[in-house]
Amino acid sequence: MILKTEIEKSAQTVPIHIRPGELLLLSEVCLTHYPPKTKLLIVTDAIVKELWGQALSESLKQAGYLVYTYTIPVGESAKCLSVMESVLRFALEAGLSRQDAMIAFGGGVVGDLTGFCAATYFRGIDYIQVPTTLLAQVDSAIGGKVGVNLHHAKNGLGAFYQPRFIWMDPTLVKHLPCRQLRAGLAEVIKYSLIETSIQEACGSPESLSHTPPLFTVLQKIVVKEEAVEKDCLDTELCELISRCVALKTAVVSLDEQEKTGLRALLNLGHTFAHAYEELSGYQDLLHGEAVSLGLVKAAQLASILGHFSSSHVETIIAMLEKFQLPTVPSPSLEPLKLIALMRQDKKATGNGIRFVLPDSDIGRVRIVDGVDEHQILNILS
Ligand code: GLY
Repeated sequence: MILKTEIEKSAQTVPIHIRPGELLLLSEVCLTHYPPKTKLLIVTDAIVKELWGQALSESLKQAGYLVYTYTIPVGESAKCLSVMESVLRFALEAGLSRQDAMIAFGGGVVGDLTGFCAATYFRGIDYIQVPTTLLAQVDSAIGGKVGVNLHHAKNGLGAFYQPRFIWMDPTLVKHLPCRQLRAGLAEVIKYSLIETSIQEACGSPESLSHTPPLFTVLQKIVVKEEAVEKDCLDTELCELISRCVALKTAVVSLDEQEKTGLRALLNLGHTFAHAYEELSGYQDLLHGEAVSLGLVKAAQLASILGHFSSSHVETIIAMLEKFQLPTVPSPSLEPLKLIALMRQDKKATGNGIRFVLPDSDIGRVRIVDGVDEHQILNILS
């Protein structure tokens, strides 16, 4: 399956290949973009390297490439300037030129960091996104948002920089721990909560007109005990991934740089989520778990503002709980500290903290500015 994104302004096309079981065919596609002897720097983390690093590197070498691998630490703390510098120094020592390319082989941290390295190295070289987690496949690898965290500011330093192409093998995500898989499902659930608004904004093109809605598809998935959970999801994963990819692709095509408000809809739950992640020191919560908490808070806030029913809030909570995602934050995450962090969010405006909130029905959202902080405190407490 190949989906294509026509990127605003640059008229650049970013092919997205969804190829179950075909990770190693990446080398064949590379040959359509880069001649043999091109230097390819794979940036990955220790977990992904252990699982597939050797096989990927060998297949690229067999295709005639000069392959280098740099392994970054696992986890969000690696998304920082010092790790970025070490990747860039490695690239310099390996002699990468502007004709060469980096390969982001891993989850969201690897993708964001590698993309930002590629955006800045020699004023920009090519990179390829090869996402290995569900979260990266449905969201972070698509759309060219790259960057690192800057002190307390999540993604405080970054750019919009599109990969040459995206190569995703949905079967990879089953090899990761169940917790990672569920965290990715939080982003899938997020898409189901914004689907109608995206379809309407994009004029419901063929690729987005699905019956039943994504939320209904998710409701029909039966989750069994953990040991068989991944197999249960197996049949659904490709459909879930391609539907999310189609939604994200449509959004990025119309609002690559988050200027019209359309791309901002993808941030449903994220103002709360980033504050939860930051306050927990990126230790206890995976990004998707923080998104799960954020989706609940966004729904509750919409409810007390009077534009979302409490029964819809309960339906969303039930969906998140079905996939064993957290819906109640730890009491140690103090509301006043969370609000202080939300005020620093990139999305904050002169008119206070900006939220994307559910609006009237599941699948619809709107951007809301200027919410009274007492009401935010109310739902955080
Ligand atoms: N993850 C939100 C975006 O790419 O805009």
